[in-house]
Amino acid sequence: VDKDIDLKAEILRLKKEKGAVILAHYYQKGEIQDIADYIGDSLALAQIASRLTEPIIVLCGVNFMGETAKILCPDKKVLIPDLSAGCSLADSCKADEFKKFIDDNPGHTVISYVNTSADVKALTDVLVTSTNARQIVESFPEDTPIIFGPDRNLGNYINSVTGRNMKLWNGACHVHEQFSVEKLAELKRQYPDAKVLAHPECPAPLLILADKVGSTAALLNYAVKSDNKEFIVATESGILHEMRKRCPDKIFIPAPPADSTCACNDCSFMKLNTMEKLYNCLKYEQPQVEVDSEIADKARRPIERMLEISE
Ligand code: 13P
Ligand code: SF4
Repeated sequence: VDKDIDLKAEILRLKKEKGAVILAHYYQKGEIQDIADYIGDSLALAQIASRLTEPIIVLCGVNFMGETAKILCPDKKVLIPDLSAGCSLADSCKADEFKKFIDDNPGHTVISYVNTSADVKALTDVLVTSTNARQIVESFPEDTPIIFGPDRNLGNYINSVTGRNMKLWNGACHVHEQFSVEKLAELKRQYPDAKVLAHPECPAPLLILADKVGSTAALLNYAVKSDNKEFIVATESGILHEMRKRCPDKIFIPAPPADSTCACNDCSFMKLNTMEKLYNCLKYEQPQVEVDSEIADKARRPIERMLEISE
């Protein structure tokens, strides 16, 4: 990319010229969120993608989000600035191993978190996000035997608030697993009035210290509506951008990682996307998200079922 190029202006120009729409997750870099047509949590991005009329969707997020958009819109071009933006949680659940887990537990309804590959979605009865997981689990009769994958922390949390006993896949996200409970407790002593906001991908001992547990969108809404002035935020750092933008008079403190020397609150996959890659991806209409059509057909039903239940 030419160094003198005004990336923001060029992205907006190309977007208009090609009839593209940019969707960005709250964990994207601030400048990408600012240029997007829509920002949202993973449920909102799927809902928006399913309703779009534009021929090109640029999904600024990680691969499974691009795949979800492509599965919902097979006739559209779905672009992603960096195709190698994976997800440690999705990677913790390989389709062949998950299939074995299902086969070992016959008669179970399979509920999967949307942070999964298309192959795992194709093995699933209904998908959930952190926004609607409780609602969807509770839409099944109480005695329904359920397998839940891949996030053991979200699964444990949903078991604890619903009284269910879902069988859990043993996966986790590397960002949400690294917060330190001891350091968070210490920070709470330093800021006694601060409310702790935590994503349900965090382990249970951390969630116990939280005033609000919820998806990125739910944590943001809580901060916007709250009369409180200080918040400690236990989720990926990208959400701080929109929190600070929407609440300029409030203070948001990132929850401390166990290793204070690392940038552990950043999801390295989410942060692979840059303005430069976004520009190139619009210019060359590459890389495109592709999903095998047979897998996509199998994966579409559980996604649509999720969207129907959460309407
Ligand atoms: P949300 O569904 O809250 O947007 O979270 C997505 C995600 O990847 C969390 O790590
Ligand atoms: Fe996946 Fe975790 Fe990154 Fe979310 S924060 S995309 S769950 S690795």
